[in-house]
Amino acid sequence: AKITMRQLLDDAADRSYGVPAFNINNMEQALAIMDAANACDAPVIIQASKGARAYANDIMLRHMMDAVVEIYPHIPVCVHLDHGSDPGSCMTAIQAGFTSVMMDGSLMSDSRTPADWNYNVSVTRSVTQMAHLGGISVEGELGVLGSLETGTGEAEDGHGAEGQLSHEQLLTDPDEAVAFVKETKVDALAVAMGTSHGAYKFTKRPDGSVLAMRVIEEIHRKLPNTHLVMHGSSSVPAELQEIINLYGGDIRPTWGVPIEEIQHGIKHGVRKVNIDTDGRLAITGQIRKFLHDNPGEFDPRSYLKPAMHALTKLCTERFEQFGTAGKA
Ligand code: G3H
Ligand code: 13P
Ligand code: NA
Ligand code: ZN
Repeated sequence: AKITMRQLLDDAADRSYGVPAFNINNMEQALAIMDAANACDAPVIIQASKGARAYANDIMLRHMMDAVVEIYPHIPVCVHLDHGSDPGSCMTAIQAGFTSVMMDGSLMSDSRTPADWNYNVSVTRSVTQMAHLGGISVEGELGVLGSLETGTGEAEDGHGAEGQLSHEQLLTDPDEAVAFVKETKVDALAVAMGTSHGAYKFTKRPDGSVLAMRVIEEIHRKLPNTHLVMHGSSSVPAELQEIINLYGGDIRPTWGVPIEEIQHGIKHGVRKVNIDTDGRLAITGQIRKFLHDNPGEFDPRSYLKPAMHALTKLCTERFEQFGTAGKA
């Protein structure tokens, strides 16, 4: 059944597990993720970005979400807007059937400049006021996603925000997080602790100087009843990089967020874990490999099928690693 983020994350907090939020843009991703959720008996968050809405059309997304819920009626599915950029995009997502929206007021709606406190509080609060009237959940974000290695904040398109930012400007301040939740009444809070979107997060396996999990521990201590969200949580597995590079791709060596760090976060209040890049790598690796091995093949189903299997395998691993398996 379709459920809200609040319902799902309240259960996750009660039973101490995390829920992966996987991005979709097309039918293949939707079916592959649900195949894994079904195999693991796991609830799931399926999220679509502004880019996904532009790519697939809201009407297609709505019918796709309804379709997977009808195919797997016993699996709880939260349909979430990823990085809504303004109150209008959140409201049109709700009209399109989303049960949960993210109002990302951490960046201005041009998505390049870090926003100030008053802007973030005011847009986020206006979305929660409207969304809650209709029983829809809201995720807010405080802090700027981006690299502590380079001091660059990150816009939604994965390109750096203008200028160098200090650690203090990038990381979420725990006291501000308390005030932000109180002022906005968000159901879940995305926090910044050194991750960024995309494949190129860290130049080596991250330690505490670039992946500041202590920020999560401290925010959870101060806000024990707020569901925390980790963005930029792909692990960017070396073996997925290798397959792409073996078959003509060009991914330069890079590190993501180690699974153990996410598991540590789940022990400290992280309930929603956003993963897009790992799925993209899994899909692309298999398509590259299949087309290399079968140069005469041109039926899209022939290469989309192994791509879907690779995404299902990835999602299955994450459901098991985050404790979501068996919680449907
Ligand atoms: O936040 C970024 C997500 O990975 C979505 O990416 O905006 O390219 O759809 P996208
Ligand atoms: P990744 O790029 O690490 O998969 O992060 C996705 C994300 O945070 C979507 O909001
Ligand atoms: Na989101
Ligand atoms: Zn994100």
